[in-house]
Amino acid sequence: MLTFSQNIQYLSCKDTVLLRVDFNLSRDKDGVFVITHRFLSMLPVIKQIVAKGCSLIIVSHLGRPKPGVRNEVYSFASLAPVLAEAIDMPVSFLSHWPQQKTYLAPGSVALAENIRFHEGDANNSKKLAEKMVEDVTLVVMEAFACSHRNHASTVGIVDCASRVILGPCHEQEIVAIEKFRCFSGKRMAIVAGKKITTKLALLEQMVEKMDVLCLAGGIANTLLHCQGFNLGCSFVEYSQLRAASALMDLIRTKNIQMVLPVDVVVCENLQDSASVRTTTIDAIDPQEQIIDVGPKTIEHYKKHLHAMEMVYWNGPLGIYEHEFGMAASASLAQALSDCSASTLLGGGDTLSLLHVLGCKGYSHVSMGGGAFLHYMAHGTSPVLSAMSAYEDGNQLCEEQRS
Ligand code: 3PG
Repeated sequence: MLTFSQNIQYLSCKDTVLLRVDFNLSRDKDGVFVITHRFLSMLPVIKQIVAKGCSLIIVSHLGRPKPGVRNEVYSFASLAPVLAEAIDMPVSFLSHWPQQKTYLAPGSVALAENIRFHEGDANNSKKLAEKMVEDVTLVVMEAFACSHRNHASTVGIVDCASRVILGPCHEQEIVAIEKFRCFSGKRMAIVAGKKITTKLALLEQMVEKMDVLCLAGGIANTLLHCQGFNLGCSFVEYSQLRAASALMDLIRTKNIQMVLPVDVVVCENLQDSASVRTTTIDAIDPQEQIIDVGPKTIEHYKKHLHAMEMVYWNGPLGIYEHEFGMAASASLAQALSDCSASTLLGGGDTLSLLHVLGCKGYSHVSMGGGAFLHYMAHGTSPVLSAMSAYEDGNQLCEEQRS
């Protein structure tokens, strides 16, 4: 498959490029977009395409609006001027694309309205996908973060486009995650998050590949509950107790060390700082809930970290949105930034956490949440599977598709 940089040299002012990005950004209390890595990392590819003289249509989804309903809360209208400033050139806003098309001069940029306003995006309508790529000579699929969605603006346009290639950030994501998946040296994974349900496939993969598996958050709570610990009012996924026990059985049969919290930060009420305390895992009062892992647990993680060549972290360790639930994640983020091992960080909440902490210095930080988990667990995505119908990365293979 040709890389993005190999492909881009063939672009000219005759091309109209559709760039599918993931501008699914959060907004502050005034509705202003929070500009993170997800937005900034798309700027170089936009500039590269425009520098070739192509006209460029940027397409993304935002949030989960009701399909078929235009809801201004989820509009990209206010992002167009932000993008214009960031790339230092005008960006027109296409409020009714692809139904209404406007002439785009060579070298011009347009941002389309939230594609999820269309009824047909989520159900991968062929009609919508065909309309999207109608006058397009190349689709650049740069949105790794939604590559796990079988939507018209992901898989649909890959299926309908005459030429499609991966964008450079998408390529980098695959290379970084594959490197981790195929690595055979000492590896440790730290997986946190509320529910086992959403991470079971990932955890089963981790059990097969890791030397050390550290668990925190609701996932750890559910396992600790199965081990007989009384966790007060903490979240436990009671519907998954059987899956949790099976996971622990699987871990026991493998040559892998599981690290569960030995101490935790608890409180009776998140608004009441006086009720916050650190305690051992076996001394939680009935009215208390776990909001973070404790310092001894973090020391255990760090002790293992020294012996590792590659470390993977997914999910904040505590309720990081709250000041009392952030300390362990902040300490781990710093330790991973300082350590000598290769570090791969991923997951939507991990990205938000790093944005809040302002931490840097990792080998790779994935822009994907669900997409990252999907790729880690399966080694592919619906978008990549659809793209495998192409030869040489951009030429439709007629035999496969007939
Ligand atoms: C994300 O934020 O993880 C992606 O944009 C996917 O969003 P979705 O879960 O709403 O499809």
